[in-house]
Amino acid sequence: MNDAKPLANLEEWEDFLKERYPEPATASTASHATNPGKPKEQFRNYEADARPTVREFYRLNHRHQTHEFASAKRKEFLSLNRRKMGVWEAAEYLNQLVDDSDPDTDLSQLEHLLQTAEHIRSDGQPRWFILAGFVHDLGKILCLWDEPQWAVVGDTFPTGCRYSNKIVFPQFFADNPDSQNPRYQTPLGIYEEVCGLDQVQLSWGHDEYIYHVTKDHLPEEALYMLRYHSFYPWHREGEYSPLTNAHDREMLQWVQKFNPYDLYTKSHAKPDAKALRPFYEDLIAEYFPPVLKW
Ligand SMILES: [Fe+2]
Ligand SMILES: [Fe+2]
Repeated sequence: MNDAKPLANLEEWEDFLKERYPEPATASTASHATNPGKPKEQFRNYEADARPTVREFYRLNHRHQTHEFASAKRKEFLSLNRRKMGVWEAAEYLNQLVDDSDPDTDLSQLEHLLQTAEHIRSDGQPRWFILAGFVHDLGKILCLWDEPQWAVVGDTFPTGCRYSNKIVFPQFFADNPDSQNPRYQTPLGIYEEVCGLDQVQLSWGHDEYIYHVTKDHLPEEALYMLRYHSFYPWHREGEYSPLTNAHDREMLQWVQKFNPYDLYTKSHAKPDAKALRPFYEDLIAEYFPPVLKW
């Protein structure tokens, strides 16, 4: 197994999330926010059932995503001096990410973005919300710069404080050097109560990166969706609330509103990128300058 790429493709991680958080049977997916308290009879041992590739992916993620690692990656990437490109161009660039997907059944990266955005659009949501859907995974371009999968995707979690046992495969944190650092292992760790998530350094990945690329151009609600869409321990499990402030708690509903569009749209029909392009080019131009720093 390749250490940098234990997953055959990034979708394996997302398919696992769907196993863990199955689509609610009742009501429309979009209006259904979250139900952290799953009834007992629905409980499945998703960890035992996880593919070996997914398990290995989480093992590496939990072992290597230290506070220091997350800090170093922020320094490395958030100067945004790698490329200059427009948003549609970035989506096409991301679309070059070819992993071991099945072209007949799996969606390309661009198709996933369009499908998420189109589902949001068909529910009559505001234009900025549709645009958030379109850009939310552009941070996965980190994979094209040879970043290992576990440093691009995966459920994110705060570094520098105790790990919640609601994080998937919590036992793998035993191999993380931070688990030996007593300063990092109190409930608040290096943070102050109610400091706000903006002060908290989450494990590094595509969410934090796209947030920084887009932060001057989108409404706050959209930015929360981008920055925290993989922070399942918070938005699905209700953990880490002592670190959040009133503003985070108000914005949480938007992150939760976004999540079903990301997770449960994959069964829908494949979008026609060529036909949709003019609509998205207009929408992008409404919010973004022609070129952004990446
Ligand atoms: Fe994502
Ligand atoms: Fe996504």
